Amino acid sequence: MADRSQVAELGLLPDGSEVELLGWVFSVATLGKLHFVRTRDSTGVAQVVVRPGFSSEDAVRTAQALRREESIRVRGVVRHDPRAPGGVEVQAKQITVVGRSSEDYPIVKGVSPRVVGDYRHLYVRSRKLTRVLRARAELMRALRSWLEGKGFVEFSCPSVITVAVEGGATLFELKYFDKRAYLTQSSQFHLEAGIFSSEKVYTLQPSFRAERSKTPRHLTEYWHLEAEAAWCDMYGMIDLEERMISDVTEELASKSSVFKSVNPEFRPMKRPFARMKYDEAVELLRREGMIFQWGSDFGSDEEKLISQKVGGPVFITHYPKAARAFYHKPDPRRPEVVLSHDLLVDRVGEIIGGGERIDDYNTLLDRIREAGMNPEDYSWYLDLRKYGSVPHAGFGLGVERLLAYLLDLPNIRLAVPFPRTLTRVYP
Ligand code: 4AD
Ligand code: MG
Repeated sequence: MADRSQVAELGLLPDGSEVELLGWVFSVATLGKLHFVRTRDSTGVAQVVVRPGFSSEDAVRTAQALRREESIRVRGVVRHDPRAPGGVEVQAKQITVVGRSSEDYPIVKGVSPRVVGDYRHLYVRSRKLTRVLRARAELMRALRSWLEGKGFVEFSCPSVITVAVEGGATLFELKYFDKRAYLTQSSQFHLEAGIFSSEKVYTLQPSFRAERSKTPRHLTEYWHLEAEAAWCDMYGMIDLEERMISDVTEELASKSSVFKSVNPEFRPMKRPFARMKYDEAVELLRREGMIFQWGSDFGSDEEKLISQKVGGPVFITHYPKAARAFYHKPDPRRPEVVLSHDLLVDRVGEIIGGGERIDDYNTLLDRIREAGMNPEDYSWYLDLRKYGSVPHAGFGLGVERLLAYLLDLPNIRLAVPFPRTLTRVYP
């Protein structure tokens, strides 16, 4: 008997080749005496035909009783037929059920989003989600390998930490034996410790935000690509991000078919991206009739509008100090703004936040106090400015946001196998 074949290889085999297929029943249709069993494996869906006379009696009996999602082993021969989906089918000699499936498979046409969410452990088998998650894996691999190619060293950071990186409001608190700890909102501070030896470091790991808002772009646990580089200023970091995003999307567009299969409009994000100071963005919003107070941070509506009006991805720089986290370096020429930036895209808004960090001990100490926080809590982070401080910058990119943008998904919940939100921690 032939070795196992996979669905995607069938078209390459000559008529009459003997094959063994392993997979899951996608659908069964009966037409007169024929049974058409569409069988799914990791490479696609194939039509298996069961015909009395050709197929064993046992196979015919098995086909009559097959249910969706049953795992099966099919032995048969390949036949090219333009009427079959994909132009090729397998004529079954034998079918064996490996694992039975209950009658009540819950993911059926027209089922409510709530049920789809409750059965996410089964929904991850769907063709749509399978493709999206394949694209996700390719995106993560491409981002990692791009950074590695530029000399960034992977530096794994803890998920359990003791201080806020991005403000206290979205911290998940944790009982840590007899102490209090938190789930990290960002690995930035620990990455900063890594630059003093490796100079350029990155990590791709989950960040956690106790987001109380239910929006299409917020998860409570998301995958965060963060990088940090010594001897780098804000503009150096912006150049790097722009190059990374354009090179990676270019590579995916030329080497991967899955992005286009999910989003036929998928195009590489070509550099250069537009750049605009916060002040100019505020003027743009006002010209569009929005009432916007200088000094506040942009919300998603503002971000999407800015990018739409610019007509593509845009870096916004020089945000007001009050709108940003304490660690951003003030612009020496204009201390009321900081050397931080966001990358905005239409439909999603912010996909990257980054900037230059305060590298002077006393300036950082003042900012921690000014923000009403206790410098003792940040003593290890302050230490990094005590022993050979260097100018440095970094960024954080939300993987699900970038993927949702590239695939044109309506909600970033679709961009991760098991989303965690305000109302969902199961399954
Ligand atoms: O802008 P944020 O909060 O920046 C930081 O955490 C910095 N410490 C990163 C750094 O410089 N190392 O988050 C960075 C990115 C955002 O641009 C967004 O793409 C994503 O993380 N993000 C979220 N994605 C999904 N759900 C959420 N609740 C997110 N919050 C932020
Ligand atoms: Mg941000």
